[in-house]
Amino acid sequence: MAEELIISISKDKNERYTVLLPQITSLLKDENDLIANLANICAVLKYGMGFFWVGFYFVKDNELVLGPFQGPVACTRISYGKGVCGAALASKQIIIVPDVEKFPGHIACSSESRSEIVLPVFKDEAVAMILDVDSNRLDDFDEIDKEYLQKVLNLIEKIL
Ligand code: SME
Repeated sequence: MAEELIISISKDKNERYTVLLPQITSLLKDENDLIANLANICAVLKYGMGFFWVGFYFVKDNELVLGPFQGPVACTRISYGKGVCGAALASKQIIIVPDVEKFPGHIACSSESRSEIVLPVFKDEAVAMILDVDSNRLDDFDEIDKEYLQKVLNLIEKIL
């Protein structure tokens, strides 16, 4: 794929994801290096969707270690069960946080982050990574984000 991202400026989230998903599929088809692919996925989601921070954490020795991301500098390690990411690792569930200030134990890497969605990525039924997406707007994530971000992760899970 050419190193060029086609972005929809539609206000409709569905439409913006719909334009990006084939481009992510194409990026992954042409490259099999995991880090390179995760790095590009972060860039596509950050610039294509206008998110504040998009990044992956790898599960290493039962804690989370920062991987490829786009956005401000973030915490490098998150313990099992801590913060939203650690809670997603422990529960193996997708977590949507409409207001980060109301999530007990939320880890604030940036004071600009207002809402967040965290999704686990599985390998052999164990959580191998976490995708964390932050917005600087309150209540920015819903079932549409859940659906499309899960589709992106399904593509990654195939190459893990
Ligand atoms: N807010 C996350 C920490 C990661 S940063 O947002 C990039 C959490 O509570 O786990």
